[in-house]
Amino acid sequence: MRTVDLIYRKREGEELSPEEIVFLVNGYTRGEIPDYQISAFLMAVCWQGMTDREVSALTECMLDSGERVDLSAVPGLKVDKHSTGGVGDKTSLIAAPLAASAGVVVPMISGRGLGHTGGTLDKLESIPGFRTGLSIGEFQSQLQKHGLAFIGQSEQIAPADGRLYSLRDATATVESIPLIASSIMSKKLAAGLDSIVLDVKVGSGAFMKKQIDARRLAQMMVGIGRRMDKRVMALITDMNQPLGYAIGNALEIMEVSQTLQNAGPVDLTRLSLELAARMIHLGRMANSIDEAREIAQARLLDGSGYRKLKDVITAQGGNASVLDRFELLPNATGMREIYSPRAGFVSAVDAALIGQASQMIGAGRDTKEDSIDPAVGVILEVKVGQKVDAGGVLCRIYHTREERVDEAADLVEDAFRISQHAPEERELILEVVG
Ligand code: URA
Repeated sequence: MRTVDLIYRKREGEELSPEEIVFLVNGYTRGEIPDYQISAFLMAVCWQGMTDREVSALTECMLDSGERVDLSAVPGLKVDKHSTGGVGDKTSLIAAPLAASAGVVVPMISGRGLGHTGGTLDKLESIPGFRTGLSIGEFQSQLQKHGLAFIGQSEQIAPADGRLYSLRDATATVESIPLIASSIMSKKLAAGLDSIVLDVKVGSGAFMKKQIDARRLAQMMVGIGRRMDKRVMALITDMNQPLGYAIGNALEIMEVSQTLQNAGPVDLTRLSLELAARMIHLGRMANSIDEAREIAQARLLDGSGYRKLKDVITAQGGNASVLDRFELLPNATGMREIYSPRAGFVSAVDAALIGQASQMIGAGRDTKEDSIDPAVGVILEVKVGQKVDAGGVLCRIYHTREERVDEAADLVEDAFRISQHAPEERELILEVVG
């Protein structure tokens, strides 16, 4: 087999066999095939797509590049939740403790923020002491004890995906439906799951800008899961404006705490409850989705989800008092207010621009190697549909260095659209797939 022939055939739109996909992925992971050839292959996939057989072969091969975590010693169904990435999306930190407090085992393999999107691991690491680098043994024993653990992808879990993702990031090949689907599913399935709830984001702040593409991505991931005997379902949800009001790592932990105490934003609470209910249903802790919704709501109202998150923070070395005393989190040293140029209704808050502004002042990274500033970010004062006065505050930028605040402020100003009439209400949960 010659790599160049496989690249040529993919470029011409032919289907590669599972053996040929394995040859490419294993050859790359072992360092036998150079970056430039795999980059060309990835670009060919971006243009030509992949068949179901190819996507399944790619997923299994990336999955088998590392360990498959054995969770058979942990009783109960294992259900994870994954979002394809958004701005202000902290639902994992709310839905997972709610589901775990209802008896579902949640082995959560989370990602880091990249580009303008945030990542659960970065948010958790803004909590002093919190360790996301658990060994597989620690992960297993924490799941036995608390029913919830958060870890990141490591050299042990789907390492081929880690390498391919870095290459995709540097070669403009991230936004490919088969590549995203196989990347997400390989690391999720490596964690020893029975079921997955996916939150496929669509809109300006998401990888998928059009609902038709989000649907194809959702269907592809559900299909990969089915072919591997896993129960997978997906919600397609709006990411045209940020979720909740807080964007930025420590700021989002504060909003998670408020939401788990039933004092959070309406959209964030609603989506987190629905995701938790889907997890509870797939984890067979309820006989119907309506019953699962009631359980999720009850776990929110009685504070058990909030207590579960505290226990897990403590178990992973973090200071759980941060959920009550926000001054213990990294705090910004400066703040800039952005004012509305006119009175009216907020008709858009562009999630991508807010995410980019937040990334620019240090909340996100340009490359995987960059470090982030956990204290900084943006807090919206108003969201779509709300009224503002001329000169009223639209949002506040929290920063620790002045350097790029002017640039960030320009982006944030552009993100808001103010109109004379109230905009039509947009659905948050657009579709259910699977
Ligand atoms: N998240 C992933 O894990 N992989 C992708 O390719 C895109 C988003």
